[in-house]
Amino acid sequence: MKTIITGALVSALLATQVQAADAALIEQGKAAFDYHCAACHGTQVVSGQQHLPGTQALTVKYQGKEPGALEERTDLSPQLVKTFVRTGVSVMPFFRKTMVTDAELEAIAAYLSRNYHPGSNGK
Ligand code: HEC
Repeated sequence: MKTIITGALVSALLATQVQAADAALIEQGKAAFDYHCAACHGTQVVSGQQHLPGTQALTVKYQGKEPGALEERTDLSPQLVKTFVRTGVSVMPFFRKTMVTDAELEAIAAYLSRNYHPGSNGK
């Protein structure tokens, strides 16, 4: 009996720690996104920018099927985010590891995929 209770406690504790780790990573990802990506992909124009080229291009690309703002998407897997950031797409530049480190990219990918539901929109 004692072992069962201890086992349950340990797994409950581990689950809490994993969630806390995820939450910390997502928080770091939000900060890194604001720093590296929000000037193009944000939801509001910041510091002297005239427009949000990323949000605008994606609004046009998806025609209402997906939100233009990356932070509102639910179809972005961590791997997809990493691939786009390292290779770039159209007018979006790629980011070298000296600009966005692997650790930052891991956090950004966790942040942008925090609501990711594979197949939720038929993809
Ligand atoms: C200089 C502006 C700019 C910056 C900075 C930028 N992007 Fe982009 N990004 C764009 C544009 C524009 C597109 C749309 C390209 C196209 O026409 O397909 C895009 C597309 C993307 C896509 C593809 C989404 C899709 O569904 O096609 C992802 C993912 C993405 N960006 C992530 C990021 C992340 C993460 C960062 C920060 C590390 C970032 N971008 C920084 C301009 C930018």
